[in-house]
Formats: sequence, structure tokens, C-alpha cells
Amino acid sequence: MAKKYVTDKIAEVRIGDQVFTLPVIEGSEGERAIDIRQLRSETGLITLDSGYMNTGSCTSEITFLDGEKSLLNYRGYAIEDLAEKCSFVEVAFLLINGKLPTNKELDGFKMLLNDHSIIHEDMVHFFDGFPSLASPMSILSSMVNGLHNFYPEMDDPKETLGLTAARLLSKVRTIAAFSYKKSKGYPLVYPRFNLSYCANFLNMMFDSPVQPYLINDVVVDALNKLLILHGDHEQNCSTATVRMVGSARVNLYSSISAGINALWGPLHGGANQSVMEMLEQILADGGNYRKFIDKAKDPNDPFRLVGFGHRVYKNHDPRSRIIKKACDDVLKSLHVEDEPLLAIAKELEEVALNDEYFVERRLYPNVDFYSGIIYRAIGIPTNMFTVMFALGRLPGWIAHWEEMWKSPDAKISRPRQIYTGPLQRKFVPMEERE
Ligand code: ACO
Repeated sequence: MAKKYVTDKIAEVRIGDQVFTLPVIEGSEGERAIDIRQLRSETGLITLDSGYMNTGSCTSEITFLDGEKSLLNYRGYAIEDLAEKCSFVEVAFLLINGKLPTNKELDGFKMLLNDHSIIHEDMVHFFDGFPSLASPMSILSSMVNGLHNFYPEMDDPKETLGLTAARLLSKVRTIAAFSYKKSKGYPLVYPRFNLSYCANFLNMMFDSPVQPYLINDVVVDALNKLLILHGDHEQNCSTATVRMVGSARVNLYSSISAGINALWGPLHGGANQSVMEMLEQILADGGNYRKFIDKAKDPNDPFRLVGFGHRVYKNHDPRSRIIKKACDDVLKSLHVEDEPLLAIAKELEEVALNDEYFVERRLYPNVDFYSGIIYRAIGIPTNMFTVMFALGRLPGWIAHWEEMWKSPDAKISRPRQIYTGPLQRKFVPMEERE
């Protein structure tokens, strides 16, 4: 760890009549931590922190967020500026390389993305091996893991990380679109060099030999913003997974495949899909959203309004503000404001934002609420919402994997535990067991 983070403050731990001192360190935005790395060797004790609610697993230079102040910065740049002024490709470059690209660097990066957008034809056959109802997330994680066999140069990451990062960013987009086409039984649409990253994805998803896809700039802009907003979010479950798996010196593709699986969970990236399922449930129940709001407020009912509240943001989620505007623009541009499901979503948002229960508990619509609505409006099937999240989170995962890999502090992740099982017992041979 860089020396500059050590402060002149110390924390004291009293165990019986012994007092131990621990250094207090400070990050560049003033976040403080008690450095317990010598705790066990000095005291024989470990700390217990289920869910790592109080545990920093690393120092990181990639993303800073302050939930109380609604602040989210990538590499020091405010998310508002990045979402307003940059493309997803620029932000991916920033997250991975630590600096915004010059024009020349951006052109080079785009060219690399184009050069690596096609997947090996042998991999296309993999899709045929999955049952037709296979989850796109399981297809994605399997295919990303499989990439390692086709592009094994990653075994020397120091030499080739830039190339592998470009391969991943470009091929995951192609894999995502192909998995949709295959699930529908439609012919595949290959990437085109003359389209931007997001337009290319939409074209691969929705173009068909019988009906050419018309690229809508408002939709492309909204998708760019969504991917940027999902780009990184410090040590969330999937990113921590990528770092943890990578800490065993597992290659980037396989570490990211593990991250995709972590993201799949309904408590993590799966929430955007759950939002749509909840709205469908409300619609099937006659559209009576007030009944669902009452259920969410009932202390005896475990039901929660999915898409509201956030563990870290107890003020507005800064990403929601940006995406709400893009959401309104998309609905208007596609003339789908009155589509029943989307109309329910807008009513729900309006009521919850003004309801005392939600206001008091600072439960604002989170980024998953609006992203679900946008994806639905542009025709992305519900079971692919989390795939979209993965596409956006990819540069963050790559940046964290690289940071972990290069850090002089990096150690294999191996938490300890407090054992609460039976004491050591005498072994009982089979014939004596009752
Ligand atoms: N609907 C109704 N009430 C809620 C909701 C909700 N969505 N979220 C929290 N509350 C209530 C709780 O019942 C609790 O009320 P109480 O004080 O009367 O007991 C209070 O608000 C605080 O809730 P906690 O569970 O302590 O808040 P926590 O920070 O632990 O949870 C979480 C955050 C998990 C996101 C929660 O708000 C939730 O379950 N939301 C719905 C699921 C969701 O949208 N997840 C996506 C998160 S965003 C993302 O992952 C990108």
C-alpha cells in the first residue's frame, strides 16, 4: 500500500488488560479505515464481518462513491459528466486505462474493438448445445469461460491485457446478441465496422433479412448512458468475485465468467429483471398498483417494491437521475408511453416518490427501475436484462482484475472463519454406528 495513506491516527483495541494499537489509513477522498493486517499475528484474534459490511478488501484507484452525497466518480470524473459527454467506449477506455483517451487513442481502441468483434465460427456451434429455454446469463458465462480456449494468449497478461480487454468488450456484445437470435431461432446478424458500439449491438439484436432495423439515435444514446452508468460500482458482489477468483491467478476470461454468475443473482444484477416481473404481476392483477404499494408498506408482509431503495444510496442514486431523463426520451421517441406495463411503472414511480413511507425511508427508484423500463421499451427480452448489465459492467471488471493482478499487496483471497461445529470426536466404525 502506498505510504501516503498512513495517517498519524491510531485505533486501540483492548483485549483483557492488553491494549494493541492499529494504524488508521485514509483514502484520497477522506475515507478512513483501521488497518487490521497485523491484527491476527499480534493478538491471535480475527474479525468477524458477515457480508463484509465493514471490511475493505483492497485499496482501489478506480471508482469512488458516497451514498450520502449521491456522488459517483470513475477515475475522478463525475458520472454526470461522463454520461452526458462521453460514449461508452470512451468510458470503458477510461476505466481500463485510468485516463480519458485522446482522439488518436480512441480511434485506435475503436479499431481494435472492430477487429475483434467476430467470434470464432466454432464457438457459434456452442449455442446449438443449449436447450432452447436456457438462461442467457448461463450461456454468457459459459461462452466467456470458453473464450480462454480460443484466445489463450492471456496466459501472459502483462503483454496482452489491452488486446484481451478489447476482445472481451467486443465479443461479449456479439455473444449477447447471438444468444438472443439463437433463442428465437432467427438467422445471426454479424457485427458491422461502420456502426458505433451501441448501434452495432442493437443492429445485431434486431436487424433481420425481412425487416431491416432502423437505428434510432435516442435509443442509441440511452443505451450508451445505461452502459456507462453500469460501468463500475466499486467492490460490489460481482466485482469482488472477479477480484477474488483472479487472486488465485485465474485468467481474465474465467474470472469474468465467475463475475457474470455473481451478477445473475436477484439480489444483485438480477433486480432489473425482477422489476419487470413485478410490473407484469401488477398488470395481471388488473393494474391495481396501489394495492402493491400498500403491500410494500405493510410491516407484516415481506413484499417489497422492487426497483426502490438502495443499500449505499440513502439519498438519490445519481445514476437514476440521469437515466430517468433518458427513459422519458426513449418512451416519447418510440411512442410507447401508453403501453400498459410502462404506464404502470410511471404511475408507481409518481406515487412512491410522494408517499410518506417511501420519502421517510429515503426509498427512491434505483437505476434498475428505469433500466428495466428502457430495455422493455426498446425490445430487449426480460431474461436478457441482466446480460445488458453485464455488458456495461465489463470494463469495471477488467479494470479491477488488472488492478488486483498488478498490486504489490495482492494475495490470494482466503477469508477465515469462526468454527461453531462439534468438538473433535472419536471416529466410530460403520458396524458400531447407531
Ligand atoms: N419496498 C418497501 N419497503 C422497503 C423497500 C422497498 N423496496 N426497501 C426498503 N424498505 C424498507 C424496509 O422494510 C425498512 O423498513 P423499516 O425501517 O420500517 O423496517 C427500511 O425500508 C430499510 O430497509 P433495509 O432493508 O434496512 O434497507 P437496505 O439498505 O438493507 O436494503 C435494498 C437495500 C436491498 C436495495 C432494499 O431497498 C430492497 O430490497 N429493494 C428492493 C430490491 C431492489 O430494488 N434491488 C436492487 C438494488 S439496486 C442494484 O443492485 C443495482
